Amino acid sequence: MKAIAVRPGQANSVHMAELPKPAVADVPDGRGVLVRVLKIGVDATDREINDALYGASPPGYDFLVLGHESFGIVEEVGPAVKHVQPGDYVTCTVRRPGGSIFDQIGRSDITSEEVYYERGINLLHGYLTEYFVDDAEFIVRVPVGLKHLHVLAEPMSCAAKAVEQAFEAQKRLQVWKPERAFVTGAGQIGLLATLILRLRGMEVYTIARSGKPSLKAEIAEAYGATYVSTREISLKELVEQVGKPDLIIEATGSSQVAFEAMEVLGHNGAIVWTSITGGQRNIQIPSDHVNLNWVLGNKLLLGSVNANYRHFESGIADMALGEVTYPGVTERILTNPVDGLENYAEMMRLLVEEKSALKVYVNVAEG
Ligand code: BGC
Ligand code: ZN
Repeated sequence: MKAIAVRPGQANSVHMAELPKPAVADVPDGRGVLVRVLKIGVDATDREINDALYGASPPGYDFLVLGHESFGIVEEVGPAVKHVQPGDYVTCTVRRPGGSIFDQIGRSDITSEEVYYERGINLLHGYLTEYFVDDAEFIVRVPVGLKHLHVLAEPMSCAAKAVEQAFEAQKRLQVWKPERAFVTGAGQIGLLATLILRLRGMEVYTIARSGKPSLKAEIAEAYGATYVSTREISLKELVEQVGKPDLIIEATGSSQVAFEAMEVLGHNGAIVWTSITGGQRNIQIPSDHVNLNWVLGNKLLLGSVNANYRHFESGIADMALGEVTYPGVTERILTNPVDGLENYAEMMRLLVEEKSALKVYVNVAEG
């Protein structure tokens, strides 16, 4: 079967590869699920792997199949699989156990090892192909009523984890009732985080560079957030107008903004960093000022990556709630379809050049 792959370490190596079709029996103990791929989303991670900034092939291969945002239909299940059946729409988690203590409690999203395993990203083939098989443990059902949001389940799971981690960590305070949130970045993670925070009743400011009018501003505002362009007003000026936030979800992909956000967080607040910054940037920060305020304000910074089965479930539940609360808004994120695996060059071109693309995805098959 066809698969879209790169040669990790070699820039611009995206190409069509060939893989044998997998079988349910590839997974032991009757736990295999065979999925026919319908749509696969791609994002900056795929672009940066093709730029050879990170990513590694599975052992025994000199290529890595891309694609970590999956959506497909179950074709066959092993005898031990109970929670999905043929005909169900599904997505699949990305990270796999890597030999740490967290594996024993089913937390594949967290590892204490330096080496991590992620399908389509590091050491495991991804889903940008015709079929995949995985252990039932990692296969998440997508309700038929959310079929139109397909590949957003994976980015939504990352946004769901980021917000959940803030609430988990803030239990340190014994009481935390965040009212005002800043979301920096209005790409897919920023917009989906905006949705989740609005569903939790917060006053949300979604902050990005580009001015209005723009699709991202329209989506953020349709979720009931205030869209702020940093071309028009700086973070510090915004704080003078509306006050300091209790929570910041940082999703710009810019380490500079990640550090700038530290200067505006309110007392007892939390920042969650979600951006993967593959570059080599160095910036200057007012370190004494930040250090002092963070200590005196009991502030918290945490990093959040990936998501496990539970975060997929809560993200999918919020997508459903989002559909009835803000009907028709979330699908506007799905801006740029590409038809067929053979159009991988166009897929990469959109990722690199099309600055207005919120979401590029490949229509692999009908279903
Ligand atoms: C993916 C995550 C992954 C992260 C780091 C993101 O693009 O959506 O699942 O953990 O990259 O590789
Ligand atoms: Zn991603």
